[in-house]
Amino acid sequence: MTDCRTSSHGRRAGSSFGAVTHVLITGGAGFIGSHIAGTLLDHGYQVSVLDSGHPGAHRGPLPAEVAGIPVRRVDLREPAAVAGCLPGVDVVVHQAAMVGLGADIADLPEYVSCNDLGTAVLLAGMAAAGIRRLVLASSMVVYGEGGYDCARHGNVRPAARDAGDLAAGRFEPGCPRCAAPLTPHLVSEDAPLDPRSVYAATKVAQEHLTAAWARQTGGDVTALRYHNVYGPGMPRDTPYSGVAAIFRSAVAAGQPPRVFEDGAQRRDFVHVRDVAAANAAAVAAAPDRPGWRAYNIASGRPATIGDMAAELSRAAGGPPPVVTGQFRLGDVRHVVADPSRAAAELGFRAAVGLRDGLTEFATAPLRG
Ligand code: UD1
Repeated sequence: MTDCRTSSHGRRAGSSFGAVTHVLITGGAGFIGSHIAGTLLDHGYQVSVLDSGHPGAHRGPLPAEVAGIPVRRVDLREPAAVAGCLPGVDVVVHQAAMVGLGADIADLPEYVSCNDLGTAVLLAGMAAAGIRRLVLASSMVVYGEGGYDCARHGNVRPAARDAGDLAAGRFEPGCPRCAAPLTPHLVSEDAPLDPRSVYAATKVAQEHLTAAWARQTGGDVTALRYHNVYGPGMPRDTPYSGVAAIFRSAVAAGQPPRVFEDGAQRRDFVHVRDVAAANAAAVAAAPDRPGWRAYNIASGRPATIGDMAAELSRAAGGPPPVVTGQFRLGDVRHVVADPSRAAAELGFRAAVGLRDGLTEFATAPLRG
């Protein structure tokens, strides 16, 4: 069992009502969670941190503390351990999850167990403890392929790309009705959910479970759909890493980033400090917004993978990227977001530009 010590630097009030709001961060020792912990402390919240130390995220030992907050080793799949940490908590910021494509399909049970069973245990514990507010780390992977327009058929949803087309270098998805070339557009939160990997399916399940919890308990859920997060403290290259960590590990080794497909696939890279700021905005905004609501957390300035790789190489002073033409069947072609709902309703706007962010990231420390 755990004792859940907490920390509040008391720099500014985390509540305008006198009592300091107590925020519990799951996965709080991870890349994004540890940035959120520091940001929430800076805003004057009382913060506590849980983390299971899962080897997919932590290759080294779990740190004893994050931003001065003791880290409690708790696996969310253990109801008694979770329940012991919930008394006195006002808001849970749920970051704990396995991310990425994974090593292979044998990872499937562990993804579902960590991400969905862990979320279910957490939600049941929150209901029992009378906690009504949750901020969920969701992901743009819930959309599958981003949004596309066909000149003849308007807004369409392309099917998963065919292995033969990819092998022949035909990377752009075609119109599902007439096979004509498509124009990608920004994805809004109202786009249909279309998970195309195990990880994506577990994130969609988290969204559905938290929506059901909000309905049944009268709770409040803010689901933040992170786009491609990067920044200091990112884990090194593993089967669970996104492309930014993979390229950063390559340049650290003096190697060129290896760009798959033709490098023209587009993503929205959002800096981890902006993601932490989005979480702080969600914690602050939640009492005014009961029910379940999703937000794209993105910069609003899409980049191609090729351009991002070139910028990172330049900033690191390393060899330029190599465009390999390789492909991964689980990959989607373009996912770029409309960030306007988060701006209008949470007051969140990304502040770190990609060039500045990558210049810092090129030499910033990674996690072991
Ligand atoms: C990524 C993460 C996902 C996260 C989401 C939003 C993976 C598999 N996916 O989705 O967990 O929720 O961002 O933050 O981790 N690429 C290369 N070279 C490489 C590796 C990848 O060119 O060495 C390309 C891929 O082919 C793809 C793009 O980079 O076109 C992005 O890859 P990646 O970051 O792995 O996946 P996302 O789908 O963007």
